[in-house]
Amino acid sequence: MANPLCSMTDPRPILVFDSGVGGLSILERIRAFMPQASVVYAADNAWHPYGPRTEQEIAARVPALLGRLCERYHPRLIVIACNTAATIALADVRAALDLPVVGTVPAIKPAAIASTSRVIGVLGTNATVRQPYVDRLIAEFATDCTVLRLGSSDLVRIAEAKLRGVAPDHAELHAVMQQLYGQSGGDAMDQVVLACTHFPLLRDDLAAVSPVGMKFVDSGDGIARRTQFLLQGQEWASPATGIAVFTKDSEDLVPLRPALERYGLATLDIL
Ligand code: DGL
Repeated sequence: MANPLCSMTDPRPILVFDSGVGGLSILERIRAFMPQASVVYAADNAWHPYGPRTEQEIAARVPALLGRLCERYHPRLIVIACNTAATIALADVRAALDLPVVGTVPAIKPAAIASTSRVIGVLGTNATVRQPYVDRLIAEFATDCTVLRLGSSDLVRIAEAKLRGVAPDHAELHAVMQQLYGQSGGDAMDQVVLACTHFPLLRDDLAAVSPVGMKFVDSGDGIARRTQFLLQGQEWASPATGIAVFTKDSEDLVPLRPALERYGLATLDIL
């Protein structure tokens, strides 16, 4: 007899993609908005980190890799939960794949709306902060703001380690953030855009080494809302499943298992 608690309807998952664990900050918001959704979380650990790479490398890598992931997992929608990949390759991915693609890009608009001092920071990877996509967001939404940018691969490394159980060193975080607040005009900054999906994983740590009252803005809720909107009315297989897939097997996936399980990713695959 069929189990009514286990009715199979549409098994296709949402594919959430990042270079590493940063996209878990986006997955967490998607799960909050859509607990019924099955998810495949894909991390390109073979190529991580993306921040120091060239535009050409990322533009060649990401559409091809997402194509392979689609062949294996047949998702109904892709979320590029990586600002670096989205600001460089979103248009190419949309052109290459015949399914909806939501891209995570820096939350400059809400930060500019909320800023009273009209000085905002954009904290991303080195690749993201130099993108014309970011220039366009600033020109469209923050023309009357002073926008200070900082690219940091240290914060990406510290977030990866935190998810593996290593507590962030606040002296190191303080030194990084001083490179942002210490820029000309930085003492008036009141909003910092977390323009890398790894950085919300460090939100409390960053707040602890920042001026009191500094606001950190990210794209998580916006991405989750957009995903929910695009998938409204669709059916989901029950119970929802969670798979984490990596592009390379590695010993450092072992200490990541507890964090993956906390995010509902009980199964681990290698592409
Ligand atoms: N999490 C990624 C982002 O949002 C990038 C981290 C990296 O691979 O450098 O940009």
